[in-house]
Amino acid sequence: MAEQVSVPRHIAIVMDGNGRWASRRFMPRIAGHKQGVDTLKRIVRACPERGIEALTVFAFSSENWNRPAEEVSGLMDILAMALSREVPKLQRDGVRLRFVGARENLSVRVRRGLEEAEAATASNTELTLNVCFNYGGRWDIASAAARLAATGEPITEQSLSGALSLAHCADPDLLIRTGNEMRLSNFLLWQAAYSELYFSELLWPDFDEAALDVALLEYGRRERRFGKTSDQLSDPAA
Ligand code: IPE
Ligand code: IPE
Ligand code: MG
Repeated sequence: MAEQVSVPRHIAIVMDGNGRWASRRFMPRIAGHKQGVDTLKRIVRACPERGIEALTVFAFSSENWNRPAEEVSGLMDILAMALSREVPKLQRDGVRLRFVGARENLSVRVRRGLEEAEAATASNTELTLNVCFNYGGRWDIASAAARLAATGEPITEQSLSGALSLAHCADPDLLIRTGNEMRLSNFLLWQAAYSELYFSELLWPDFDEAALDVALLEYGRRERRFGKTSDQLSDPAA
């Protein structure tokens, strides 16, 4: 009998290392971000083939506003350009795009781009692609709590989970960070409570389908105990 390998239904990725990828080639950092979009396109195509139902990527953090103005405006331009080019292809491939993050301080141009892309892909079911843009885990938890408090609903783990910006997805099974940094950088603080963590030394523009498969293989070897003992997992009656 073939060995049953478990596949994560929801993967989250901190796409880190674009700047270093460009600097090593004596190119401006923004060239690394452009290359990073190509990597994302490949990984998005690879997910449904592997049985992955949801992909959540960290594209711009609440703290990334503190970068040089030129890099921030370059990132906004790349987002706007990627949306106008890629939405028809996502549509063809059945990918539902959702943006996760604060929208208030985005420009009207960017905000309209996000809204149009979400509306155009709203009925797609092949893969849900959550793009965390202007996102921070602390922002997410604080705004969910504020919304509950405003309605007077009691704050419980369940109500808070339901008020978070990723309430439409189960928690990520696997969280990958590229770029050889071992930290969360304010990504999915609540939802990653029991995600398997996987760190890749590859810079995001160098990450590819083969690297994804290595991460999936490693995930398949992990034992997710959720607080139980190993014995309980092999014999539920134990
Ligand atoms: C990640 O790559 C993309 C964003 C944060 C927007 P970086 O730009 O952080 O690349 P490094 O970490 O400087 O190499
Ligand atoms: C995290 O990467 C944010 C994104 C990938 C969008 P950073 O490069 O901003 O994280 P730090 O600053 O190294 O922690
Ligand atoms: Mg970085």
